[in-house]
Amino acid sequence: MSIEIFIKYKILIFLLIFSIYSQAQPTPPPPGEPGGIEMGTAEQIELGKLLFFDKELSGNRNISCATCHHPSTHTGDALSLPVGEGGQGLGNLRDTGISNDAIVQRVERNSQGLFNLGRGNVQHLFHDGRVAIDLNEESGFSSPAGSDLPLGLENIVSVQAMFPVTSATEMAGQDEENEISIAVAEGKLAGEDGVWELLAKRLRDIPGYFEFFAAAYPENVETQSDITFVMAANAIAAFEISAWQALNSPFDQQLRGEDAMSEAALRGMALFNDKGCAICHAGPLQTDNLFHAIAMPQIGPGLGDNTEGFSDGLEDFGRERVSGNSADRFKFRTPSLRNIELTAPYGHSGAYTTLESIVNHYNNPVLSLMTYDQSQAILPSRTDLDEIDFTVMNSPARTGSIAQAALREPLLRPANMSASEVSDIVEFLKALTDPNSLDLSENIPDSVPSGLPISD
Ligand code: HEC
Ligand code: HEC
Repeated sequence: MSIEIFIKYKILIFLLIFSIYSQAQPTPPPPGEPGGIEMGTAEQIELGKLLFFDKELSGNRNISCATCHHPSTHTGDALSLPVGEGGQGLGNLRDTGISNDAIVQRVERNSQGLFNLGRGNVQHLFHDGRVAIDLNEESGFSSPAGSDLPLGLENIVSVQAMFPVTSATEMAGQDEENEISIAVAEGKLAGEDGVWELLAKRLRDIPGYFEFFAAAYPENVETQSDITFVMAANAIAAFEISAWQALNSPFDQQLRGEDAMSEAALRGMALFNDKGCAICHAGPLQTDNLFHAIAMPQIGPGLGDNTEGFSDGLEDFGRERVSGNSADRFKFRTPSLRNIELTAPYGHSGAYTTLESIVNHYNNPVLSLMTYDQSQAILPSRTDLDEIDFTVMNSPARTGSIAQAALREPLLRPANMSASEVSDIVEFLKALTDPNSLDLSENIPDSVPSGLPISD
């Protein structure tokens, strides 16, 4: 792009920012209750814990849910973008795998922390909300499986647990590598030869699982053949929900009338309201359960979307992928900020690595996007993967379309924070950390019924 066009472009952006500034500021909704939750039985939770750590659920038996959501990295993986099946190791020591097993691409989005799942007022899961409570559906939920989603899933968290196993890069494996990856390649989720039934067969074939399923679902499991993947998903959800509630932070204590937050954190809380953060990060879980475009940098392989004029699929249109509505382009779910200090990197593609850098983003989201420091991304290196990681960020036309979506976002405006205000807001965000979440090692089982290793 020539200098002239670049300057014109900046002027356009300036004008757009100015026009947004002049709009009236809505007031944030008042905080409400975080919503009740239903806990599974102790036996369901125990079964779910084993399944969460068991690589048997992955096509090539080389990755478990815990690999990307490990207690030692506070239910995330400490990477900008996960290294899925084929990689080796945990957290930021994870590599991209060797020879035939090596990964084909990075997982496209940042692995989310799993705190406070199952709260009644959380309506959507995933960055784009593609799993959602939907009473128009027979199952009670909308999801990528549509009407193939089986009945009997207890809650939105159970529904989510049906899907990582159906992703080639996350857990299933590539092409013809195993029976699960073949079913995925053929688009078969439900039915006798679908992914879920094939995984249920695997679980039935491991004698050690029977006693756990029978104890968890005594009314439904009399013999091994009664085990279903829906039961597995319900049990995994029971474990996630019970293990990772985190609502006893200094912020919660302060709300209960105790003197638990520092002066800086209290100033930060006031700024969080004054600067408009609480409009979107509303209520006790700091989310309005809606989708917004905030000019978040887009790094990594993307999900196959393209701004007009490009065809490499390196973009991620976010909510538009679910709604089909182009007005939703580059919108992502407002995440809860509970335990945010523990779940870096931040944003749907994990572009920001520190709380300071993401809070600073809001000073001028478009400028922050345009001047994004690529060196902060935490991406295990491999030349062919590295080559595409910043293609979108290096293209003014493409970052420009991300910027324009943010400029149309009525609730987003430059927050104009001084350095000390940023630091106060960071202190407030740290006051959302529940001390019980600092050490989650008790959530790691000693072994799993398949006998597969759980150390990575
Ligand atoms: C290869 C890494 C990886 C594996 C393995 C994995 N996940 Fe995830 N998880 C992710 C990523 C990435 C996202 C966000 C994906 C998106 O929004 O499109 C996610 C999102 C989630 C969410 C949604 C959280 C929210 O707040 O919306 C839950 C719950 C979850 N995973 C549970 C699981 C369970 C259960 C398993 C095993 C059955 C599992 N994950 C396996 C990477 C992984
Ligand atoms: C217009 C709505 C909106 C406003 C206003 C807003 N946010 Fe956000 N916030 C979001 C959305 C949406 C995301 C996720 C975006 C993505 O992943 O692309 C997010 C992400 C974040 C994250 C990273 C969360 C994670 O798990 O990765 C932090 C921290 C954050 N916001 C803090 C703030 C602060 C501090 C302010 C005020 C200065 C603020 N937000 C104002 C909507 C908003």
